[in-house]
Amino acid sequence: MEEGHLPVMPDEVLGTLSPRPGSLHIDATVGGGGHTERILEAASPDGRVLGLDADQAAIERVGRRLERFGDRLVLRRSNFRELSTVAPAAGFGAVDGMLFDLGLSSFQLADRERGFGFRTGGPLDMRFDATRGVPAAELLATLSADELAALFRKYGEEPSAWKYAKAIVAARTTAPIESAEDLASLIERLSPPNPRVRRRTHPATRVFQALRIAVNEELDALEDGLAAAMELLRPGGRLVVLSYHSLEDRIVKRFLNAERRGCVCPPEAPVCVCGHEPRLRLVTRPSLTPTDAEIDANPRARSARLRAAERLAA
Ligand SMILES: C[S@@+](CC[C@H](N)C(=O)[O-])C[C@H]1O[C@@H](n2cnc3c(N)ncnc32)[C@H](O)[C@@H]1O
Repeated sequence: MEEGHLPVMPDEVLGTLSPRPGSLHIDATVGGGGHTERILEAASPDGRVLGLDADQAAIERVGRRLERFGDRLVLRRSNFRELSTVAPAAGFGAVDGMLFDLGLSSFQLADRERGFGFRTGGPLDMRFDATRGVPAAELLATLSADELAALFRKYGEEPSAWKYAKAIVAARTTAPIESAEDLASLIERLSPPNPRVRRRTHPATRVFQALRIAVNEELDALEDGLAAAMELLRPGGRLVVLSYHSLEDRIVKRFLNAERRGCVCPPEAPVCVCGHEPRLRLVTRPSLTPTDAEIDANPRARSARLRAAERLAA
């Protein structure tokens, strides 16, 4: 078993991608390599996988752990936004399946230097790719209360966005908010527990989610990655996406539905004039979620939602 990160819905992912000898797959979010490993095993002896991750540490870890697959596994540190150039350059210009397992891995969550977890004392960074973009602490130090509140609302759907934003701006006049722990404790102080209501998640969950999405431009990256997938999948090739919150899932659902319908005419148009053909057939209708047994064994899977589609010839 993988130490650190258990792959989510592994049977459902494999069943949908159905790798076989000689097939080519792209794992756009290789993480701890759990799904990649299963795809390579199922595609034995000569199926190949291109594994991408924005995080250099993930690429290095998986390279060591899955070394036994030799040149059947090609790894690239890259954002999946760049798939349309990275994949053909690596020899994966037309593939049988692609997986996007969104969000962050348990390795990243546990890494004290990255700031993803509430109790990590290191810098509040939250970048998947530490060579690009602005760390979360810098957003907290520079955005106005209005901008912070808008961010918490847009990417966290946080009902107390304004209260938290004001408190952050007030707190930073005395001391900067530098660690994940600083931020989590500030929000905890503003949301004392109600003895009559059992909390299912930490009160800072939505704020952390919002910062992480903003720092990594996660929703824009997802739109770009899905668009690239359409160009890379062969007819009959399968696309599988695992998402973990409603903002991601909404983008995936809209994208799949638009490609399934094909027509992009405005709804008021009496007949189709755009001439677009459907490019996808839905495989999961509407979506799959993990079994109770999986959630018991791997609580991180509890919010997962799997959507999948097959590329048509159009
Ligand atoms: C949930 S984990 C993947 C776990 C993996 N499926 C496994 O079985 O171990 C998500 C991974 O995607 C990476 N990631 C998130 N957004 C990315 C993006 N836009 N481009 C490339 N990698 C990304 C993260 O760095 C993280 O390692």
